[in-house]
Amino acid sequence: MSKKPRKRPVKRPGAGKRPSLAERADIHDLYQRSVQSPEADCEFFAETFAALRGRPALRLREDFCGTAHMATTWCKGHPERSAVGVDLDAATLEWGRVHNLAPAGPAVASRVTLIHGDVREASAPLADMTCAMNFSFCVFKARAELRAYFEAVRRGLREDGVFLAEIYGGTEAIDVLEEEREVGPHTYVWEQERYDPIDHSTTCHISFTMSDGSKIERAFSYEWRLWSLPELRELLLEAGFREVKIFWEEVGPDEDDPEMLRGTGTYVELRSLDENQESWLAYVVALA
Ligand SMILES: C[S@@+](CC[C@H](N)C(=O)[O-])C[C@H]1O[C@@H](n2cnc3c(N)ncnc32)[C@H](O)[C@@H]1O
Repeated sequence: MSKKPRKRPVKRPGAGKRPSLAERADIHDLYQRSVQSPEADCEFFAETFAALRGRPALRLREDFCGTAHMATTWCKGHPERSAVGVDLDAATLEWGRVHNLAPAGPAVASRVTLIHGDVREASAPLADMTCAMNFSFCVFKARAELRAYFEAVRRGLREDGVFLAEIYGGTEAIDVLEEEREVGPHTYVWEQERYDPIDHSTTCHISFTMSDGSKIERAFSYEWRLWSLPELRELLLEAGFREVKIFWEEVGPDEDDPEMLRGTGTYVELRSLDENQESWLAYVVALA
């Protein structure tokens, strides 16, 4: 009697291999941990508004809100606060609902409204403060387009409202470069791929390298116009704001390399600067 050969299990290529950290990672979670510090931002916003207006700000509008990390943190800070987040990307908003709003609990989540729409068109109750973080408004590349956005911000603010927009610059901002920063177990990589001096357009990317060496290449990409501070001031005044102030991030010695300077996360109002900087962060603060 012939013996029937036993079928041997055949392994599919890659089967049983543990997925890499990059394959298992959540890019929104990595993004939030790498580039956002909403507690510090909310503290700065509340203090700046109170100093400028002599009353506390309660309603925040977070334009380009993405996962609404900032809007949620704002509402966590005080039971009378409310927030509106506006973003074009429905999937990112949904991620924010699940990972930021829901864990914050119903008492906080019920005070955050998310609007899926364009920041130039979305209508919401008038805000005390509107913010545009992480240079998001640079998506508007023509003067008329950016002014139309600033006009929409102005219309959406209360009479004594304040707009805070985050911007970067410096001699390095127009270089082609790649910068790495360790954030806990992963490395955040900021890449400036291209800059065109004729129209100031720039292409930038965010990548992540995980502790097992696996990578998420260009998880986020941006096509921006790198606006200068005088251009922003002029456009905000043209859009109807009464006054524009610049709050500059102070720099201090880097803990790891005292020869190098690093942003301290503290912002002070400046009218001029004696020395140019290789890279800087600032808030443009426009008063309605
Ligand atoms: C750089 S992310 C900013 C995310 C987050 N607010 C932060 O501070 O890191 C830019 C966001 O702007 C959104 N966006 C781009 N153009 C927009 C527009 N015209 N109206 C509303 N959202 C827009 C994108 O969907 C994306 O989520």
